[in-house]
Amino acid sequence: MKILILNGVNLNMFGKRDPKHYGTETLGDIDSELSKLAKELSVTVESFQTNHEGEMCERIHGAHTDSTKAIVINAGAWTHYSFAIRDALAILTIPIIEVHMSNVHAREEFRHISVFSSIVRGQICGFGVDSYLLGLRAAYSAALKSSRI
Ligand code: DQA
Repeated sequence: MKILILNGVNLNMFGKRDPKHYGTETLGDIDSELSKLAKELSVTVESFQTNHEGEMCERIHGAHTDSTKAIVINAGAWTHYSFAIRDALAILTIPIIEVHMSNVHAREEFRHISVFSSIVRGQICGFGVDSYLLGLRAAYSAALKSSRI
């Protein structure tokens, strides 16, 4: 089973960003934690990061034909305003899990809104790197259930 991990704008800067919200791990560290868990679950993970909104939409379009069974997405600030990414995600029928390192609901008001919230299976936030690991577990479980239907 293939699960796609999507990281949006500025998330390549984890490790250098405010450690109070994002810890000190880099995106590379997060990817290696995810790979370890993927091995345990016997799933394949592919990680993709971009700072370009159109590129993110195109990668999401690609998930229609590359046998992706679920998506874990941290879209960074795009979460709060990108209707283009929301629309791209909405075309998919596979489970989508939204994750954030920080507890977005305990931060500035603009972060309380996710334009993805009505089209994702669920949101996990506030657990640092564990948000991704919990997101992968949730994606795996949701994909297993949807493949049984
Ligand atoms: C974030 C939260 C967003 O509000 C912010 O713009 C990010 C990171 C998180 O992982 O906590 O870039 O998605």
